[in-house]
Amino acid sequence: MGSKKDPHQDINWFHAWRDPTAPLVWPPISKTYLCNSSFSSIDWAVSLASNSKNATTQVKLLNKIQIEYTLVMASLGINIDHIANIREARRTIEPDPVQLAFLAEIGGADGITVHLREDRRHIQDRDVRLLRETVKSRLNLEMAATSEMVGIALEIIPDMVTLVPEKREEITTEGGLDVVANESQLQLVVKQLNQAEIPVSLFIDPIQKQLEASVRVGAKWVELHTGNYAEASEKTKLKELARIKESTAMARTLGLRVNAGHGLTYHNVECIAAIEGMEELNIGHTIISRSIAVGLKEAVQEMRNLIKNPRR
Ligand code: PXP
Repeated sequence: MGSKKDPHQDINWFHAWRDPTAPLVWPPISKTYLCNSSFSSIDWAVSLASNSKNATTQVKLLNKIQIEYTLVMASLGINIDHIANIREARRTIEPDPVQLAFLAEIGGADGITVHLREDRRHIQDRDVRLLRETVKSRLNLEMAATSEMVGIALEIIPDMVTLVPEKREEITTEGGLDVVANESQLQLVVKQLNQAEIPVSLFIDPIQKQLEASVRVGAKWVELHTGNYAEASEKTKLKELARIKESTAMARTLGLRVNAGHGLTYHNVECIAAIEGMEELNIGHTIISRSIAVGLKEAVQEMRNLIKNPRR
């Protein structure tokens, strides 16, 4: 057993686990333990394997666990709105979210998410149309439940529509949809989209009455708003995390499938990714920010070289 203080031990174990030639090392500390939850079924299976005296049995059990783990691992949807935000700051043609979505997919994105806002402040109609043709993973169209947006979705046929609340004055989506208060309107929109075989997800706060209303309006998916968890102080974080975990379990019991997103970062994502039943995490701001951090040096070097050695 390794020390609790070295988070890299967990990562080393994970790599060793995936590499069949590496010596067997046991997880020093489980991710769910770090996230202060009860043991998951995977932890339980790992502990079973670790108690086995026979090396062959251990390897067999580990392989089985690995397959299960891959199956239950949450997938990653990348929200690329911020790329369009930079383009629209100059109303120019770069950076192009359509071209860069391809890089996100090469990097391992399981899906591309764009929010076509009523005021078209970032993503444009042209982006959505082209992305429909170029995205090889899955295209998730975030939109308000308006007749204009429904018309566009029915024309584009994205792989999923996520309905979100929208206010012109907000910087980003604030709070989840109030499904309870807008039941009849949402029921109609979900029905129209479902008739075109577009799966619909509702972006909601992790609250029981919103989950129950989501079932009533005919949605098959919900995306749980993780904003409160992301912004919580150290003192209230565990409470917010518990709300998301309980809502995930409750949603599954109600027959809903569960995604989550908003405000997730490299620092706070693991506890959400470790929730059993969580299918996809939609992440934007932190990944686009990080891409600037990891790419800026190279971009400056390229410009420096051109200025130093101009083609005459
Ligand atoms: N999910 C929904 C419904 C959103 O509106 C957004 C932000 O556009 C995200 C996920 C991604 O949030 P963030 O940019 O904070 O990662």
